Amino acid sequence: MSERSPRERGHGVNPYADPAPVEAAGVRTDHPDSFETRARQVLPDYVSAYYGATAGRLDGSAEGEAAWSALRFRPRALRDVSVIDTTTTVLGTPVASPVLVAPMAQQHAADPEAEVAVARAVAAAGGLLGVTTHVSVPYAAIGATGAPWWFQVYVMRDRGLTALLVQRARDHGARALLLTVDMLALLPAPVNPRSWPVGPARARHGNLTPEELVAAGPSGLEMDPSIDFGTIGWLREVSGGLPVLVKGVLRADDARRAVDAGAAGVVVSTHGGRRLGPSVTSARALPEVVAAVGDDAEVYVDSGLRSGEHVAGALALGARAVFVGRPVMWALAAAGERGVVSVLGDLDTGLRRVMTQLGTARLADLTEEVVAR
Ligand code: FNR
Repeated sequence: MSERSPRERGHGVNPYADPAPVEAAGVRTDHPDSFETRARQVLPDYVSAYYGATAGRLDGSAEGEAAWSALRFRPRALRDVSVIDTTTTVLGTPVASPVLVAPMAQQHAADPEAEVAVARAVAAAGGLLGVTTHVSVPYAAIGATGAPWWFQVYVMRDRGLTALLVQRARDHGARALLLTVDMLALLPAPVNPRSWPVGPARARHGNLTPEELVAAGPSGLEMDPSIDFGTIGWLREVSGGLPVLVKGVLRADDARRAVDAGAAGVVVSTHGGRRLGPSVTSARALPEVVAAVGDDAEVYVDSGLRSGEHVAGALALGARAVFVGRPVMWALAAAGERGVVSVLGDLDTGLRRVMTQLGTARLADLTEEVVAR
């Protein structure tokens, strides 16, 4: 894998990488790409294939990334940028950086500590993480790291079991729910963890007892294809009022309906290109969603964000904060918690550098005025 060029792997080389890279677990950390290369060397092929997978014949991940790279800035001159402030709040929770970690399944295949290692890194960075329904570690262990977290919900056919997981997550500190609405079609068999050797794939429900799993049966654990806008209210009810963000929205009208149905916000996302290959990119969908609901709800975005420039562009187009997926997973696989600390640190450093160049000392100054339309 390592002899393939960055372009073939769908990633551009960042010419602005830190001039003084640090070492983490023997891996250069000047660009997230280096973690991907190392991770692909140490992981079984079927795990790398799942992590890197996209839907259909297009590489929706590379396309998503290219769309962020295509943004052009209109920097402001002669602004006081002696102090760059990247603090903000996300659904009322203060964070030191607008770079959050996306919920991702099968993290235990990257590192046995899985979300616990990621959560420690997130706590160090002052950020927040999403935790997948398919998490293998106990919610209590994630909560014990002190990192704020949101629980990502796949509504299963067994609604009682879904409600039970939501309530357990809430009881262990989840502050909001990310209702993922875009993954009803499974990834094809070659890259689906269902075709993995039995052990790792089984570890995906770490917060249910063996009895509860048996009672639900395989069909009870399947995603419920009948979810609709009413599901938002149902989740608020069963969670005792936790805010719900709808993850996987790519249209203004869906965003509007979600917010009207009680969502506290939406995450504009192509699921990292894993959903529907030829869909619009998140960068293209974000402005219409912000225009539709930005005054009434919080808009987040993910898919293809790889640099401080990408993050600044997303915030300028109206995102409150961004989620990052694969770069965190590759770093976790290559260098564990330290790798994740490094990736989050690099993105924050990159964002600060871009904010300095743009003459935007605070995140509130990053408005559409600094992007060429
Ligand atoms: C994901 N994603 C995801 N999303 C979700 O809501 N629940 C999940 O269980 C998972 N699992 C998952 C596994 C892996 C291996 C990947 C790569 C992604 C999607 C994730 O939350 C996010 O939307 C994308 O990863 C963002 O795109 P980038 O940053 O990976 O390009």
